[in-house]
Amino acid sequence: MPRTYLMCPPAYFDVKYVINPWMDATTPVDAELAVKQWDRLRETLIELGHRVHVLAPQVGLPDMVYAANGAFSVDSTVFGARFRYPQRAAEAAAHQAFYARLSSEEAPGEDAGGTRAGWRFVAPTEINEGEGDFTYVPGPGLILAGYGFRTEPAAHAEAQEVLARPVISLRLVDPRFYHLDMALAVLDDTTIAYYPGAFSASAQAVLRQLFPDAVVASESDALGFGLNLVSDGRNVVLSAEASDMAARLVAAGYLPRLVELTELKKGGGSVKCCVAELRG
Ligand code: ARG
Repeated sequence: MPRTYLMCPPAYFDVKYVINPWMDATTPVDAELAVKQWDRLRETLIELGHRVHVLAPQVGLPDMVYAANGAFSVDSTVFGARFRYPQRAAEAAAHQAFYARLSSEEAPGEDAGGTRAGWRFVAPTEINEGEGDFTYVPGPGLILAGYGFRTEPAAHAEAQEVLARPVISLRLVDPRFYHLDMALAVLDDTTIAYYPGAFSASAQAVLRQLFPDAVVASESDALGFGLNLVSDGRNVVLSAEASDMAARLVAAGYLPRLVELTELKKGGGSVKCCVAELRG
């Protein structure tokens, strides 16, 4: 099944402030290479048959390339983001405007001229960083949600009200994995992959109970951004650095597609951070 994604080119990407342990404002970023690598990622998704919308980048918002943080949608309802740090706050409005424009152009899951209702955007009250800390498992219809560094636990209850799906709250405990999408990924309708050490002991027990057949990743898989992946249920796009994780995925029956994202790693993100999924 083709998916619909949203990406934002790293035209103004840089590391000038530090809001996660991966960022170092003294390390230079090769802006041209960042754009090339991002293009390759977008082309890979298109080659796999998916549709990629592009959000216009804005001067002064260097982290806007991490489009996954701008919202979280399920069943054509879009739960907007509210960023933890002021440096990224203005990104939320750009995403909201994107969904407003999209709604006026087409209905979710259909081409222009469809008869279904458009995207319903709901602005948040609590701090939450979109798909950075929320993900959806279609089979059981569950939302998995992280907290501890960015998203407020109160936003999990808010998401459950807005999206009418059960939200499972998972506490993140390792600052290197400050977003859920650094430590956990949905591979298909019922399968997830995760690195247990990123979660509290209780959250690990919850994940074992709900997903006994999960692909369990190692610390080095997670440090290589191997869990920061995008899967369409069969093809899994992930960082070229994560070769052990790719082998694990092959063993589990998936088809890994490796992409180089060395420049965007300097901001503390990889494949998944750059790709928001629109679930119409
Ligand atoms: N520099 C960005 C931040 O710290 C990176 C965001 C990565 N995005 C993600 N979905 N994990 O907010």
